[in-house]
Amino acid sequence: MKVFINKRIPEIGINMLQEAGLQIIFPENENLIYEEWLKYCQHTDVILSIGSDFKYDKLFFEACPNIKAIALYSVGFDHVDIKEANQRHIPIGNTPDVLSRATSDIAFLLMQSVARRASYNFQKVKDEAWDTFEPLHALGQELYGKTLGIFGLGRIGFQMAEKCKRAFEMEIIYHNRHHNEETERELEATYVSFDELVRNSDVLSVHANFTPEHKDLFNQSVFEKMNPNAIFINTARGGFHQEKDLYNALTEGKIWGAGLDVTNPEPMSADNPLLKLPNVCVLPHIGSATIEARNGMARLAAENIIAFSKGEKMPYCANT
Ligand code: DGY
Repeated sequence: MKVFINKRIPEIGINMLQEAGLQIIFPENENLIYEEWLKYCQHTDVILSIGSDFKYDKLFFEACPNIKAIALYSVGFDHVDIKEANQRHIPIGNTPDVLSRATSDIAFLLMQSVARRASYNFQKVKDEAWDTFEPLHALGQELYGKTLGIFGLGRIGFQMAEKCKRAFEMEIIYHNRHHNEETERELEATYVSFDELVRNSDVLSVHANFTPEHKDLFNQSVFEKMNPNAIFINTARGGFHQEKDLYNALTEGKIWGAGLDVTNPEPMSADNPLLKLPNVCVLPHIGSATIEARNGMARLAAENIIAFSKGEKMPYCANT
C-alpha cells in the first residue's frame, strides 16, 4: 500500500509506517501547487495529509479515484467534505487529544499577552521606546475572578477553562451544541445562550470545530454586544471572525483586545492593519507546535493508516 506524505513529520510516525511495511512517497518539493499535489494523490492509496491549503471536496475525489483513505495530521477537518468522503466510503482519520494541552496553552498565553499588552510592550523594547517606569503608560488588566466564556467546550476548550480556573479563579460560562453535564460539574461551569456568552464574557475564547455555518460568526453585531473590556481569543479557525469587523471593534473601543493564532487567509499578510494595533497579538497558527503534540499527532496518524492497511477501522476517525 502506498502512502503519500506531503510534508516531513516527526520520525516516530515515519518509523511506524516503515515498520508496518508501507511504501512511503514524499514529494520532491514540499510546497506543491494544486496540480502537482493532485498528481501525487492520483498515484497513491492513502494520503497522510499535512495542512489545509487544498480541499478534499467532490472535485478532488473525482480527480483521484484511487484514494482509499486519508489520515489528516490535524484534529480539524473543515477542509474535508465528510459527506462526500462517506459516500465514497473513504475514512478520514484525525488526531484528537494529543494537541489539546498545547493548543489551550496558546489560548492561555494569548489571553495574558493581550491583557498585559505583551507584544505591544515587546515592540517598545525593540524600538528603544521606553522609560524605566511610566505610571500611566501601557496599563494592562488583571484576570483574577473575571468571567471566561468558552465557545465550544470540547477537549481544548475544557483545558483552557481548567487553566483559567486554576490560575485566575475565573468563572466559566460556555456555549456549545449540547449541554455537557459532567464537564459542567468538573469546571463548575454554566451553560449559557450564545447571546449571554457574548454579553457576559470578560474573555471570550473560541474552541469549536469550524463548519460553514460558523463563517464570520463573530462579526460587528457580536462585537457590539461585548463588554468594552473584553478580550477575544481565537485559536480554532480564522473563518470564525470577520476580520474587518474585528478591526473596527478594536479601534472603536468596542472590545479591549484580541489574540489570534488563526487568521483567514493564512499566512496573514505583513501589511495587515491588525498588526499595527497595540491591543492585538497574532501568532502564526502554532497551537499544536510543541515537540510533544507533534510527536503525538505523528503517532496517531500512523496508527490510523496502519489500522486501515490491516482492514481495520481507523481508531481516530472524523467520519460520522
Ligand atoms: C489542527 O490540528 O486542527 C490544527 O489547527 C492544525 O491544523
